[in-house]
Parts: sequence; C-alpha cells; structure tokens
Amino acid sequence: MLLSNVWLDGTRVDIDLSDGLVTRLTPSEGGPLGGTVCPPFAEPHVHLDAALLGRRAPNRSGTLVEGIANWSRLRGELTARDLRSRALETIGMYRSWGCTRIRTHVDTGSLLAVEVLCALRDELDEVELQVVAFPQEGILRAPDRRARWEAAVAIGCDAVGAIPHFERTTEEGWQSLRLALDLAEKHDLQVDVHCDETDDPGSRNLEVLCALAIDRDYGQRIVAGHCTALHSYPDPYAAKVCALVGESGIQVVCNPLDNIVLQGRYGGYPRVRGLTRVDELWASKACIGIGHDSVVDPWYRLGTANLVDAAYMLVHAGHLTGEQQMLDVFATLSTANHRCFGSAPRIAPGQPATLLHWPDCEDPIEVLRKRTRPQLIERGSA
Ligand code: FE2
Repeated sequence: MLLSNVWLDGTRVDIDLSDGLVTRLTPSEGGPLGGTVCPPFAEPHVHLDAALLGRRAPNRSGTLVEGIANWSRLRGELTARDLRSRALETIGMYRSWGCTRIRTHVDTGSLLAVEVLCALRDELDEVELQVVAFPQEGILRAPDRRARWEAAVAIGCDAVGAIPHFERTTEEGWQSLRLALDLAEKHDLQVDVHCDETDDPGSRNLEVLCALAIDRDYGQRIVAGHCTALHSYPDPYAAKVCALVGESGIQVVCNPLDNIVLQGRYGGYPRVRGLTRVDELWASKACIGIGHDSVVDPWYRLGTANLVDAAYMLVHAGHLTGEQQMLDVFATLSTANHRCFGSAPRIAPGQPATLLHWPDCEDPIEVLRKRTRPQLIERGSA
C-alpha cells in the first residue's frame, strides 16, 4: 500500500506499507493531495461505567449535581451484562473514530463495575484498556468508602483515583491525596485524580498534588484531570501553580466537552468557561492531555467518542485558534494522550503500519473543521 502526498508532522510525504510495517517514508514528489495521516488516538479520561446511560436518566437541569444524583441511582441498578454491553458498544465507537487505547475511570461505589471492567480489559486485544479506581463520592466522607476504594484497587485496577475537592474539608482533601499516593506506591500503580473540578478559586488541591509528586519523585506516573479551578484562580496564584505543574512532571488532562457546560453554573454573567489553562500550562512546559470524559452519560448526552470533537471544543473555548495552537491540540490526541499507556506510536520506517488516514482533509486543521471519520489502517490493511 502506498500513501502518496499525505500530511504528516507538518510535511508532505509518501509512505510505503508492506508486511504490516512502514517500509519507506520519503518527501512527497508532488501530485494530487492525499490527505492527512497520524498515529492512532488514545483516550486518557472517560467513564465507561456510566456511558450510554444518559437516555435512561435525563439530566433536566444539565448540571453536575443532577448528573451525580442520577448516576448514584443508576449505579445501584447496574448489572454485569448491561455494563459489559454498554462498555463494549462505547469502545467500538472509540475504535471507529481511530482510538485504540482507552483509560476509563470506574466508580468504586460499585465493585461489580470494577470487576466487569477489569475483566473486559484482560480479554480485549483490539483496544488497550486501563481502569482507574475512582471514588466518585470521596474517600473520607463515610467509613465504608475508603474500604471500597481500597478493595477496588486490590481487584486489579491500573491506577488509583481520588476526588479531593469533593471531600468534606480542605484538610481531608489533602489527606485523600496523600492516601492515594500511599496506595499507588504500595501497589506500584499510577495515580489519576479528578482534581479541582469546580469553579471555586479556593479549591487548591493541584498544588498539593504537585508537591507530593515532587517529594516522592512520582510525577511521571500522575494525571490530574479537569483542574477547572485553575481557570478561576487569581493570576499570580495561577502562575505559581502552572510552574509547579511543569516542575512536577504530572500530566493535566483537560475535558473540554463536559467542563464547558458543567462549570460556570453559579451566578449570572459573565460566565466562567471552566476549562483549565491549557495555554499557560503549555508555556510552563506541562504535559497536557485531552479527554472526552462522557459518552452519552448522566453528565453529558452529546458525547460521540470522537476525540476530535473534544479537540474542537478546546480550540474554541480555550482560545487556541492560532495556527500552531490548533496543530498542537490535534497532535496531542496521538502523542501526549498516550502517556499513561507508555510510549506513543510513531509513523516511521520499521514501525507497525498502524495509522489514521483522512483522505478528504489536507491538514489537521481541516480534520478539526470537518470532523469526518478516519480510515483506521492496522498492520497495513484498512
Ligand atoms: Fe471525569
């Protein structure tokens, strides 16, 4: 198979694929434009346990609070069969949009859900799945929650979650972060925290997570998701936190589809956008990922499992429509989004011939504009 005159990393190239490998990659010799290629996408943040439930429990107010209430009710009715079938359908949606690695959070309030998703992870081969033990309702709010969270980790999760801004007090939030790192170190696991998903500028868990990461030399194994309070911090404090994130090496995963509608719900206008500060974090050399977060779940009915939709929202609501900024946002889906899984796949001679191809888009900005379905070429065949 020959892909001729395609856009790859800012240049036009011809790519030969044979025997499942990229065998030749040379500057294009011209001819008709052949579209855009990039490595497969990775999803660093979704909730498969709640996916596709949005129709069963309509969120009438559209708020985070009602989403949590609806989910709490639905969680009690989960069956293994239903959960597995929704997860598989959602994973199929992701694959159809070119995503081959998915990190899902699972609410540790249902150990059944933890068992189902860990079992699914172990049997899938077309998609690499990771499972995060996510204590949706906190670790320290009630005695049984910490035990369930620890039990979920023991079942075999890949990463330890936390939700410090949802704990009862600031001090308990910080305590939950220390417990999460303790548990991760004990089991040699990664950490993935829902961190400061609030408009409250007083929610200051990200700096604590950074400090713990630096002190324990664990930053490369930590993700902080959402970090929307950073949007609302006073600028001098935000500058300090962005620098700390860069120094610590932790990755911040922005979830623009959910947060553009779930945040900014207090008071009137002007409304805060509630997206973390991607431009300033990048300027601080921080590693940024882009998550989709919700696929037709109680928080957000409009999810498609197409990561380009999340990137499209980010370039708009994050004021990242500069030419290079749009290219950087698109590149994130196939580079930094892979970080929690290991190294990102590359398109280079000798590498597996697995890539995404948009024949109808002449560069990544056209991919963002059109959001058409890519062809997933795997080991040289589509
Ligand atoms: Fe989330």
